[in-house]
Amino acid sequence: MKQERGNWGSNLGFLLAAVGSAVGLGNVWGFPYKMGKSGGFTFLVIYLVLAVFVGFIIMMGELSMGRKTGKGTVGAYHALSKKFRWVGWLAVFSPFVIMSFYTVLGAYCMEYLTLNLGDLAFSGAEVMTGADLFGSMLTNPFGAWIFTVLFILICFFINRNGVSGGIEKFNKIGMPALFVMLVIIIIRSLTLPGAEEGLKFMFKPGYAVSAGFIDEKPGFLTVLATAGGQMFFSLSLAMGAMITYGSYVSKKENLVTNAGIIVIADTLIAILAGLAVIPAAVATYGPSAALSGPKLLFITLQDVFAAMGKIGPLFGVIFYLLVLIAAISSAISLIEVITTYFMDRAEVKGKQGNRSHIVLGVCLAILVEASIVALDGLGANGLWVPLQNQFGIIGEINDCWLDFMDFLSEGLAMPLGALLMSIMVGWEIKPKTLLDELHIGSNARIDTFFSICMKVIVPIGMALILLGQIDGFLHLGIF
Ligand code: PFF
Repeated sequence: MKQERGNWGSNLGFLLAAVGSAVGLGNVWGFPYKMGKSGGFTFLVIYLVLAVFVGFIIMMGELSMGRKTGKGTVGAYHALSKKFRWVGWLAVFSPFVIMSFYTVLGAYCMEYLTLNLGDLAFSGAEVMTGADLFGSMLTNPFGAWIFTVLFILICFFINRNGVSGGIEKFNKIGMPALFVMLVIIIIRSLTLPGAEEGLKFMFKPGYAVSAGFIDEKPGFLTVLATAGGQMFFSLSLAMGAMITYGSYVSKKENLVTNAGIIVIADTLIAILAGLAVIPAAVATYGPSAALSGPKLLFITLQDVFAAMGKIGPLFGVIFYLLVLIAAISSAISLIEVITTYFMDRAEVKGKQGNRSHIVLGVCLAILVEASIVALDGLGANGLWVPLQNQFGIIGEINDCWLDFMDFLSEGLAMPLGALLMSIMVGWEIKPKTLLDELHIGSNARIDTFFSICMKVIVPIGMALILLGQIDGFLHLGIF
């Protein structure tokens, strides 16, 4: 049966695809700006602790659930649990919702890439400031929509070619290229005068507060929730991606080592992205740049490139291409979660699913929801306003469609999914069920660590993260 679904061509191919899924906008954008907002070094330490005790555990859990059952998300939960079988649906719902805005953010990167390419080709053309560029982009909904269509089209062609023929091939070229480009940007960033301030902000304990980057220390629980939410999103957990990718891994491979490599690679790239972005932003704009929030990628950094003079657009092209590759490699894993569900469903009915048709249907459905987000232009074009009053508090606190979709998926469905998964594994089906799978191809002595984390540490951590996410998104001020 496994043969019909297809497999990864090699373990390296699987690893690059999984790292590709994990490395995305979350690393290049979310990590540096959340680190900026949450006090620099403290955030980094909490992030690392969570990555080991929660991220690594759930990564092993998801990969083994996929490989054990040989099924995508819905099928895997169905096969393993009675009480939690519906959780699989949550993990198909979230990727679908995330794609509504992930594609639009990818489209913005394409737009910035094109604009910087234009500046590079016609040197002498006046480089627009980040704020002007961003403003004019948001209020040109048609442009954003066209780039969104293009982004989805690229994903369509990759996913249509299958797990090893499309996803694996793209990542085998895309991931090494991304790494090289990241190193180039880091060298430029660290050699700008004043870059050391950014480095101290990232790595010197307490510096963020003492040097006036932030006025007061954020509360421990706030940092915990921000770091936890970020870690989850960044590692592509609780969205079916790792269950789905795990279902295509051969029984020979060592899932424990693989899970460790994915977590380490993703965390390393998040830190490297921090090195590429924070020192450059701080060198050009001083401490406030580290705190510029979501604007960081599209306004602050474009300004950094503009301030470099004639060579700026070249770095702009390299940087936005890098982010675009990261966005595509993550988006295709989200599309694969939904595609695999339909392929598995066909198999259950005794049919052979037609991948091209399924991927086309999935991409068209994503295009519909993404069009709303693209045309809304982060609220600049007012598409959210008519709904605002109908959603009570959720309507009031979300300013635009992107916020709302992010709240539904990253804010609610993801932490809830992970919480339920850890309760299911820890208390219903018991850790041993997955440990048996993990021990195929690995004799690592992880049993006690895995069981304790899955039963106690992960559920408590996830409950706190869920509360923190709701608190943060709804501005309730509990934490
Ligand atoms: N990990 C991706 C990022 O850091 O941008 C986002 C993501 C991709 C989340 C795939 C979840 C997922 F299943």
